[in-house]
Amino acid sequence: MKELFTHTDVAYWRQNATGRIGLVPTMGSLHAGHMHLVEAAHAECDTVIASVFVNPLQFGPDEDYEAYPRDYASDRDQLAAAGVDGLFAPSVDTMYPRGLAAATVVDVPGLTDILCGAHRPGHFRGVVTVVAKLFNRIRPHLAFFGEKDFQQLAVIRRMADDLATGVEVRGVAVDREPDGLARSSRNAYLNDDQRQRAAVLYHALLEARDRLTSGSHDIATIEEFGRQRLSDAGFQVDYFTVRAVNLNPPDTSTTEFRVLAAGWLGRARLIDNLPASR
Ligand code: PAF
Repeated sequence: MKELFTHTDVAYWRQNATGRIGLVPTMGSLHAGHMHLVEAAHAECDTVIASVFVNPLQFGPDEDYEAYPRDYASDRDQLAAAGVDGLFAPSVDTMYPRGLAAATVVDVPGLTDILCGAHRPGHFRGVVTVVAKLFNRIRPHLAFFGEKDFQQLAVIRRMADDLATGVEVRGVAVDREPDGLARSSRNAYLNDDQRQRAAVLYHALLEARDRLTSGSHDIATIEEFGRQRLSDAGFQVDYFTVRAVNLNPPDTSTTEFRVLAAGWLGRARLIDNLPASR
């Protein structure tokens, strides 16, 4: 596996890369969920490149940019063992040579103002900006993102389409711990007691999904039930909501839904979602 740190490294690597190129963008602190993204990339691509970059532009001023877990040596070893061909690990200066405040940014209005965007102002601007930069530098044919960040996936798809990047954006199913908790680098913030309670997020989503599947039309009650389940387990709830798959509020003709939730357990902000239909 070739380690790449500068744009020159990437340009040279890209010139020599062959076949369909798949990109797996990450912020490092890799776990089994990331390795499933790599597997999905290998299944469809001839050459796989991953990026490891904790992107300061997607963290708010009071968020966990400094504390975000980082372990480059472990990330590199896992990616090499998974057969990744290239690893792009740029510095902040490499990605934002004019500084964060002066950086050209990409905005996806509307879709970024709801759900996580309403609770993390500017977050998705940072995400789509860095992903657009990675797409432009690496020029992959496909790029792979986890469905745990379902709104992020929708926003990136919109950007890729609107800016005619030519990159096919793939969503990969949520990877879960045995008790159902979605794998996330931020799970490392949970203490033992919080870790026990964290799976309530998944179980509340499952119950909401079952209610929808069995024909309940009372969305407000389902959402209220979900919020209550989470706060009973000690979560500070950001949202628990039932949406159409395009993330608009559902109407009476909606048959395909996504149930999405986000909340804080201690200093960990956990998010998760499930598909549902009726
Ligand atoms: O999902 C993530 O890890 C990040 O938001 C991403 C897509 C790598 C952009 O920094």
